[in-house]
Amino acid sequence: MTRPDPDELLEKLASEHSLAPKDYETLIGARSRLAPRARELAVAVRKEIYGNDVYVRGLIEISSFCRNDCLYCGIRRSNAAAVRYRLSEKEILECADEGYWLGFRTFVLQGGEDAFFTDETLERIIAGIKEKHPDCAVTLSLGERSRESYKRLRDAGADRYLLRHETADPAHYELLHPKEMSFSNRMRCLRDLRELGYQVGCGFMVGSPFQTNGHIAKDLKFIEEFKPDMCGIGPFVPHHCTVFKDHPAGTAELTCYLLSLIRLIHPPVLLPATTALGTVDPAGREKGILAGANVVMPNLSPVSVRKKYELYDNKICTGEEAAECRGCLERRIGSIGYRLVAARGDIKK
Ligand code: 5AD
Ligand code: FES
Repeated sequence: MTRPDPDELLEKLASEHSLAPKDYETLIGARSRLAPRARELAVAVRKEIYGNDVYVRGLIEISSFCRNDCLYCGIRRSNAAAVRYRLSEKEILECADEGYWLGFRTFVLQGGEDAFFTDETLERIIAGIKEKHPDCAVTLSLGERSRESYKRLRDAGADRYLLRHETADPAHYELLHPKEMSFSNRMRCLRDLRELGYQVGCGFMVGSPFQTNGHIAKDLKFIEEFKPDMCGIGPFVPHHCTVFKDHPAGTAELTCYLLSLIRLIHPPVLLPATTALGTVDPAGREKGILAGANVVMPNLSPVSVRKKYELYDNKICTGEEAAECRGCLERRIGSIGYRLVAARGDIKK
């Protein structure tokens, strides 16, 4: 059998939106050669669906307490040096109010798995935001919870949920997580969220410790099959207080290439150019948009807590006010010929 030609595989992906895992692996291996063409195809298909619009999400980091111990994460519970904080209900609602005033129509409540945020508390917060801003979407990014809990939060008004699958390879998953966490529970959560009617986001880190091209190929196959509404990918960035402190960071180059491939796999997907991408490369977010991303997520958290939500080292935007980040991104996105839009930014199917 002759080896498939990578150029042909890329064109096939663009027209059929599906490849065998081995073929994804071939594409990943041929990235330096194929990246320009992948970018061109990805931008063309995104333009058809979303024009030049880039959606903006206001990120509110509600808590740095976490009962989990993911090996890569700076706020893992065993990091005794992490400074912990949680925002009060009032502070969260104030962040949303300020965000609304700045033109945000989606709020992402993200935090560690903090037992303080019970279903009751979150129901009040979600309902409070929805009551005041009925034209806004509320996205949650609060980790693994029970189906019952996801149901209550959905009933309270939450529209979307972000839960990265982290890796689609169960053995790799175990290398990145403590014993008490499991790949099967992660998948259970994603299934439950989908069944409960959330718009669901999965995703993974690029260049995470022990990751191979074969693992990434599995991630792409998973995305092809799961068809998430949103997909968050960003480079792994080491945190100095974790066991992975000496592992190298993922690259902006591979992250952007994968953004292009994901756009081709699932054209309507909402794909952020992440803060981690902007951290490994000062022009990372612009490069991400130019590779096929269509979402940015500036930070709305109070500046007083920004530095404390430290998942990885050298995170950008920890000193800027919400309005500054919003203005900065507006300029950055405008400078490359796109426009930030004040809309909920639901997926176009
Ligand atoms: N580098 C990059 N991304 C990280 N995340 C957690 N720790 C790191 C790190 N060191 C990502 C995970 C998680 C999301 C909230 O942040 O993928 O799902
Ligand atoms: Fe925060 Fe540029 S987006 S300072």
